[in-house]
Amino acid sequence: MSAVVETASSLADRIIALEESSTLGMTKKARELAAQGHKVISLSVGEPDFKTPKHICEAAKQAIDEGYHGYSPVAGYADLRKAIADKFKNENNINWKAENIVVSTGAKHSLANVIQVLVNPGDEVVILAPYWVSYSEMVKLAEGKSVVIDGSFENNFKVTPDQLEAAITERTRIVMFASPNNPTGSVYSEAELRALAAVIAKHENVFVLADEIYEYINFTPQGHFSIGSIPEIHDRVITVNGVAKGYAMTGWRIGYIGAAKWIADGVEKLQGQVTSGTGSISQRAALAAISGPKDAAKEMCEAYERRRNLVVGLLKEIPGFKVNMPEGAFYAFPDISEYFGKSDGTTVIKDSDDFCTWLLNEAYVATVAGSGFGAPKCIRISTAASDENLVEACRRIKEAVAKLN
Ligand SMILES: Cc1ncc(COP(=O)(O)O)c(C=O)c1O
Repeated sequence: MSAVVETASSLADRIIALEESSTLGMTKKARELAAQGHKVISLSVGEPDFKTPKHICEAAKQAIDEGYHGYSPVAGYADLRKAIADKFKNENNINWKAENIVVSTGAKHSLANVIQVLVNPGDEVVILAPYWVSYSEMVKLAEGKSVVIDGSFENNFKVTPDQLEAAITERTRIVMFASPNNPTGSVYSEAELRALAAVIAKHENVFVLADEIYEYINFTPQGHFSIGSIPEIHDRVITVNGVAKGYAMTGWRIGYIGAAKWIADGVEKLQGQVTSGTGSISQRAALAAISGPKDAAKEMCEAYERRRNLVVGLLKEIPGFKVNMPEGAFYAFPDISEYFGKSDGTTVIKDSDDFCTWLLNEAYVATVAGSGFGAPKCIRISTAASDENLVEACRRIKEAVAKLN
């Protein structure tokens, strides 16, 4: 009997079809170069460089001492779900009760759950681009079809109601987007969201998946507005949020949804078979975060705004870089397509992937190509780093691109 040779091609088709996360890929390459002794500045990860506020850590320690060691209810502890429902009401003007809330293992998990629960094979999901790398892959896993519509640089990377109307078909199930946005930092204003909602209101089988994970990192004077607060489409909006970005709690892995009860029940059913309730200690920490003071979140937001100003100013000085003004999150997203077709004498830069790889090898600055975000002319630069590293990274980038002709 011949032995079966197991290789990567023996994996299930759905995994073979899945793209690797480009952000994690770049971070891995940067680590390898750093391990070889190079002074790499890594601006590829989407992670706050702050520590989780002390009172939240204390709540986690207390939870351990109080014996929160067992399984939690699948949808999360009742008091946490209630605190999230109150947060939706008080901060977002969205009317949900605890029964409308499901807590999951990060906003990423919440998004993937909702897509699994609502999308049938062949259903279309309209994704407003540039978009976060995982959206299209989550849709693929649910055997749905991504329909990507591009927000242009000129419109600060935001799509128009006409574009949305033109993209919706009889097969459209979900429209999904993040505001504030990763990778562009763009923020849809209340007026813009009302205009998009007016389109969605006309298509009664279409749901909105609103990713608000960067809610607290918003530099606009008007602040955050939630599309889920618009009464005409309230029941068709699933709002996703979490504690990762605003409270510097990426590793704690807590995300949540607010949704119509039948959708929340569907997510609970799925979660009940796949993960069960998420980590008990993290949930107690999330309760302290969500129901506690917001001072630390505000201070972090101010730091991100200051760094945004610093980095945008420095990037604008680089010849050939087209730079938008991010209004939230912690990324800059310059269009670097001016350099496509140019060479340093050895390497020809064909696209943003080539540009990022070349930049890492040439200047030891790790960024992420826009291709994975549905914006192939751009690169994403995380501003969640020290001022010193940001200044040095921009200096190195400027020096490196001067070699391209
Ligand atoms: C737009 C967007 N949504 C969701 C997430 C996932 O957040 P979490 O860490 O809570 O899973 C991220 C993380 O980078 C993100 O950028």
